[in-house]
Amino acid sequence: MKGFDMGDAEKLKITNLDPGELERLVDAQNEIFADYIIPVTSSPQFLREFMRSIGGKAENVLIAADGEDIIGYVNPVIDDKEVWIGGLGVVPAFRRRGVGRRLMIAAEDFARDRGAEESILEVIEGNLPALALYERLGYSAKGRKYLSAEGRAVQFAGFGLMPSRVRFDDVLDLHRTVYCDACWQRRKVSALTESERTCETYSVDGGFVMLRRVGTTGHIPFIGVLPEKRGLGIGTSLTKFALSRLWELGAFKVAIYNVNDDRPTRRMLDKFDFAVTLKQIEMRKAI
Ligand SMILES: CC(C)(COP(=O)(O)OP(=O)(O)OC[C@H]1O[C@@H](n2cnc3c(N)ncnc32)[C@H](O)[C@@H]1OP(=O)(O)O)[C@@H](O)C(=O)NCCC(=O)NCCS
Repeated sequence: MKGFDMGDAEKLKITNLDPGELERLVDAQNEIFADYIIPVTSSPQFLREFMRSIGGKAENVLIAADGEDIIGYVNPVIDDKEVWIGGLGVVPAFRRRGVGRRLMIAAEDFARDRGAEESILEVIEGNLPALALYERLGYSAKGRKYLSAEGRAVQFAGFGLMPSRVRFDDVLDLHRTVYCDACWQRRKVSALTESERTCETYSVDGGFVMLRRVGTTGHIPFIGVLPEKRGLGIGTSLTKFALSRLWELGAFKVAIYNVNDDRPTRRMLDKFDFAVTLKQIEMRKAI
């Protein structure tokens, strides 16, 4: 700890990250998330891929520094009238001194100046410091919750329906309709198109599968069925197909992130022997 003392948070200078200094942010993230609920290890490649996949900009990341060292950061991702907080953290030695609060307020100001009217974020159930901070800042949970789950890639003998390989652009309309009630990251086509290069895309009448390749962690599957085509077994067929294709691609573990916590989704997870690993709560605030 150098020049930063108790009570200094109000004076703390918050600046935009110089995208050429991504390494400094990676170092800070690795310190911040070393004691996190889920272990996260960042690297320049991981961070670049993450930013691409959420449609974020490195130069929009706001950092708080003590001399040369980054002591906290926030990653506001602005999308028209919404800003999504794509990461917030303060290194352990500087917590409980108002740095997180200052960063959040700076992110809201930054986004408001660029036209955003609502701030959205997700917080892991059980992350009490973050929940307390967001509640104090006026964020409220409107009841929407998400699940992450883990299972295995399995080869099925048949799928019922046989999806055809299609171009990424061909499923964007389907995606928009199917995911309009999903978490921020899933419903944003602008974020999704960033991962176009790394997708295998398939469709059937009324549904689609995308398998997005993420260099550091394998493939992330996206599956969707149009509301009027649900309950007909299309989702089951698409899931069997996706798990088989992932098996062919060599995946030994399949993780899915932030799917809606509702009955149909839970039934599907049970059917394919997926175990829930994490619950997230969506919080919002008018800014
Ligand atoms: C969440 C986090 C960013 C908070 O940063 P911080 O700089 O310690 O927060 P602040 O000092 O600005 O706290 C502001 C208010 O939040 C609440 N708060 C913060 N930490 C808390 C804790 N450990 N327990 C209870 N309330 C807490 C308090 O209301 C606090 O105000 P007070 O100190 O006047 O009581 C920090 O704990 C962190 O980096 N955690 C690990 C990463 C993480 O969880 N990120 C958020 C992911 S959604």
